[in-house]
Amino acid sequence: MTYEQAKTLLEKNGQEQVLRFWKKLSKAEQTALLAQIETIDFKELKRCASMLTATAAAAKKGKPTAPKVAELKGAALKKATAAGEKELKAGHVGVLLVAGGQGSRLGYEGPKGAYSIGPVTGASLFYFHARKILALTVRYAVRVPFYVMTSAANYDATVAHFEENDYFGLDPQDVIFFKQGMWPGMTPDGKIILDAPGHIFMSPDGHGGMISALKANGCFADMKKRGVKSVFFFQVDNPMVEVADPAFIGLHTLEKSEYSLKLTAKREPTEGLGMVVKRDGHFDMIEYTEMTDEMNNRRTKTGDLYFKFGSPAIHVFDRAFLEREAAKAMPLHLAHKKIATVDEKGKVVKATEPNGYKFEKFIFDALADAKGVTCFAFDRADEFSPVKNAEGKDSPATCKA
Ligand code: UD1
Repeated sequence: MTYEQAKTLLEKNGQEQVLRFWKKLSKAEQTALLAQIETIDFKELKRCASMLTATAAAAKKGKPTAPKVAELKGAALKKATAAGEKELKAGHVGVLLVAGGQGSRLGYEGPKGAYSIGPVTGASLFYFHARKILALTVRYAVRVPFYVMTSAANYDATVAHFEENDYFGLDPQDVIFFKQGMWPGMTPDGKIILDAPGHIFMSPDGHGGMISALKANGCFADMKKRGVKSVFFFQVDNPMVEVADPAFIGLHTLEKSEYSLKLTAKREPTEGLGMVVKRDGHFDMIEYTEMTDEMNNRRTKTGDLYFKFGSPAIHVFDRAFLEREAAKAMPLHLAHKKIATVDEKGKVVKATEPNGYKFEKFIFDALADAKGVTCFAFDRADEFSPVKNAEGKDSPATCKA
């Protein structure tokens, strides 16, 4: 992209301020800024800006109710496990890890997946995930493609971590790294923010960005070529996850689901887990930050929590469903943040109060479009101990213990 092309494009979109320090920039800075501008999808940017002027997020229709959750035991569990093992042996299962996040909440400057969590070995989160996939390839004598979503900020460090560790024994051909999209931050009046005279502040587009990123990086085509029908999804912060659990895959297949979720009974009413609900005939996720006290504490006649099961973000998707979703624009979520800016002289100014917005897509917004949704309860003691905070609950110490 040339300077003239960038200028025309930015002017057309009311963003000409991005080039206001152009003449002061070095050649390298100019090249880097043009490269950044080239990555911006201005159609999506317009959608982001329109979110800022919307008076309030459109209220969702219908009263949320708790969904039906399958708690499999005995013969039903055996049947689901056998069905899942059949899928695994046939090579119909791919594994997808969203690892675009940094370890900043843990005070760690690197990809969160490279954070050391093994109590004795000191092995990383990635080690545990990769070795479980390796075990699947041995147990079922099959190749299991492992798609790893990174962000621009941690792609190189993530690939380097796998290379330094010989891909943890996996065949590098079966480990597919791809980058999620990045979006510029905006001021409340919809202007792109510069955090340095020659640099646009950009942030990852949320784990929901995985759908467009899978498409843009040819991952759907790769899945099809390999015969993948179901995609097991999980987050980087939980080394206890049972990767591609056969019972879960099996239930998903038997129920002909498009989107299945593992759910677990909340530890306490206010635990920070998303809540799957049904409203107006559709499934939806209410983020823990949006649950009211009344909803968190509502009880059934027998004294159980009414909204009992939270989501640890362990899902199975039908590949064809994800491909269908890729043709659609996902909803956007705003986060009000402190973002460094530049003053009129080009001096970088740190923000002391939230002054701009980041935009994210959440994968669970796809729930509303899924033709079949299955919720599967599991025992958290076996499979869920996320590493979220530096200390206290859900910390490295609780996970190692
Ligand atoms: C998340 C879920 C919550 C769930 C909980 C379970 C959201 C908004 N909330 O909360 O419903 O109950 O986990 O532990 O997701 N990621 C990317 N790219 C991004 C943003 C995130 O790949 O742009 C990845 C992270 O690397 C991580 C995962 O998504 O693996 C979750 O992100 P995080 O910000 O840690 O979510 P939580 O607030 O912990």
